[in-house]
Amino acid sequence: MSEERERERARELAHKARQTSKGSEWFESFYRKAETSKVKVPWDDGVPNPHLVRWLDARGEVSPGTRALDIGCGYGDNTVELGKRGYSVMATDISKTAVARAKSRVADYNVEAQVQDILKPPTGWRERFDLVVEIYTMQVMPPPERARLVSVLPQLLRPGGSIVVVCRGRQPSDPLGQFPWPLIRSEVEGIAYEDVELVSFEDFMDDEDPPQRRFLAEFKRV
Ligand SMILES: C[S@@+](CC[C@H](N)C(=O)[O-])C[C@H]1O[C@@H](n2cnc3c(N)ncnc32)[C@H](O)[C@@H]1O
Repeated sequence: MSEERERERARELAHKARQTSKGSEWFESFYRKAETSKVKVPWDDGVPNPHLVRWLDARGEVSPGTRALDIGCGYGDNTVELGKRGYSVMATDISKTAVARAKSRVADYNVEAQVQDILKPPTGWRERFDLVVEIYTMQVMPPPERARLVSVLPQLLRPGGSIVVVCRGRQPSDPLGQFPWPLIRSEVEGIAYEDVELVSFEDFMDDEDPPQRRFLAEFKRV
């Protein structure tokens, strides 16, 4: 199946699943279906996100015990990368099928994986993490859930901690587009609130075929 056809199929499944279940819970039926059919999960590249890798390279080495939270971890490509780099990682996804797969890949690293709805994080996660990693999860949420995520993420940071976001981007005047819905800059910048500041914001075309507009943003809690 061509990549575009796979995406189309994923959109159809996503659409059907959204009609029959609540909120983000449709992801579980989607992952389950992918396990039992020929449908490929379109974001399952088997490699860590290249923009995250670039950001982590620039950040350099981390001290032992630095705590990272990988939200919407899927099959754990980014979780594994964080674990390899010495982070103590909490990986989380709303899909138990995805979390089970991520768990099966991280035995060599300091990683815990939990099924959670990130929009209702456990109270113990408040102010717990030095780094919160958000790769392509906000963009799969419709606007009300997305706004909720923007308000939740800063609450999970320790003072001095960072949030890194990678997502599809669009101009406010562009059409909303189709799933996964590209974000506008001001939605992402909404993470900067009270003591959380925007550190950097990149708006670029990637090297996919065809190229996609992406945002890479970093925030820090002062
Ligand atoms: C497009 S995938 C990205 C997966 C991974 N971050 C990556 O880059 O490969 C979005 C992921 O977010 C998860 N997700 C969606 N809504 C969620 C929620 N409310 N809480 C936790 N995970 C969620 C989905 O199950 C899915 O695995």
